[in-house]
Amino acid sequence: MKKILSGIQPSGQLHIGNYFGMMLPMIQRMDQGELYAFIVDLHAMTSVHEGEKLAKGTMNAAMDFMALGLDPDRSTFWVQSDVPEVTELAWILSTLTPMGLLERCHSYKDKVAKGIAASHGLFAYPVLMAADILTYQADLVPVGKDQKQHLEVARDIAIKFNNQFGETFTIPESVIDDNLATVPGIDGQKMSKSYGNTINIFQEEKGLKKSVMAIKTDSTPVEDPKDPDGCNLFNIFKLFAPADRLKEVHGLYVDGGAAYGRIKLELVDILCDYFGEARKKRAELEEDQGYVREILHKGAEKARQKASVTLDLVRERVGLKY
Ligand code: ADP
Ligand code: TRP
Repeated sequence: MKKILSGIQPSGQLHIGNYFGMMLPMIQRMDQGELYAFIVDLHAMTSVHEGEKLAKGTMNAAMDFMALGLDPDRSTFWVQSDVPEVTELAWILSTLTPMGLLERCHSYKDKVAKGIAASHGLFAYPVLMAADILTYQADLVPVGKDQKQHLEVARDIAIKFNNQFGETFTIPESVIDDNLATVPGIDGQKMSKSYGNTINIFQEEKGLKKSVMAIKTDSTPVEDPKDPDGCNLFNIFKLFAPADRLKEVHGLYVDGGAAYGRIKLELVDILCDYFGEARKKRAELEEDQGYVREILHKGAEKARQKASVTLDLVRERVGLKY
C-alpha cells in the first residue's frame, strides 16, 4: 500500500489555492493508500513569531482540514511538533545537505524578497520538509506546483543518504495536478496568503463577497466577445461551476454577453453552496475543540510509532548507537 503524505502550514487563513493544490488531492486519495496529513507548525515558525497566533493557527488549520473532509479514521492526522523524531532527522540530514542545493531554492529567495526575515530556519526549511517526508517513508506527496523544487531537494537528500549509509529511505514522488497546478488570486498572480489576493474558504459570506467582487477584470463592454482563458474571473469560476453552466458562461464570453458583475454574484452563490457542508462542520468543530485535540494527540501517537522505526534504523546507520 502506497504511503501518501502532505503537510500544510498554519500561517494564515486557508484559501481556495490551498484547497485545490493540496487539501482536495489529499482528501480524494484517502482510500488509495495509507494517508498521512499534518499541520506543520515548526515550518510556520519561520514566519510566525507570536506564540498565541501560531497555536491558534494550528487549531484552525486542523479544524479546516477536518471540516473539508479529512477523516481521521481513514488517515493519520497530527501536528508536526508532536513528533520530535522529525527534528532529530532534520539535523542528521542537514549534515549531508550541500549548501548549494539550498541556495538554489526559489522559495527561500521569494520569501526573503517578500520581507520574511532571512533566518537560518527559513534557509533550512527544505531540510525539515525532507525530514517530514523521509521519516514516514512516503511514496507520494500531493502538493501545489510551488513545492515541486522542495520535493526534488527531499529526493536528492534521500538518494545521497542511501548512497552513503545504505538503503534506508523510500525515494518520494510529488503528485501535482497539471490542470490545477496554480490557482490564480483575485489580482491574477498566484493566489497566496502573502500576496493578500486570496479567497478564503471559511470567511463569512460578507467577506467572501468582498473578495469575489474584487476579482480584477478588464473594461471590455458586456456585449463584446472576450477571451475566457485570459480572464481571471473565468479561471476561478471554472474551478467551481457545474459543467453545463460552465459551458453556457464560456459561450457568453466567446459570443459576447458575459457581464462580469453578474458572474461574480453567481460565483459567490456557487462558493457558498460548494463549501456549505464544510462550513457547517467547521462551526461544529469550533464548539468541540477538545475533540479535535484528542484526534490530533492520537494521530501523533500513531505517527510517532512509525517515526521511531525509521529513526532507530537511521541512528544505527550513521553511528549514533554505540
Ligand atoms: P501560501 O502561498 O498561501 O502561503 P502555502 O505555501 O502554505 O500557501 O501552501 C500550502 C499548500 O497549498 C502547498 O501544497 C501549496 O503548493 C498549495 N498552494 C498554495 N497556493 C496555491 C495556489 N495558488 N494554487 C495551487 N496550490 C497552491
Ligand atoms: N512546505 C510546504 C508548504 O509550504 C509544507 C510542508 C512541510 C510539506 N512539510 C511538508 C508539504 C511535507 C508536503 C510534505 O506548503
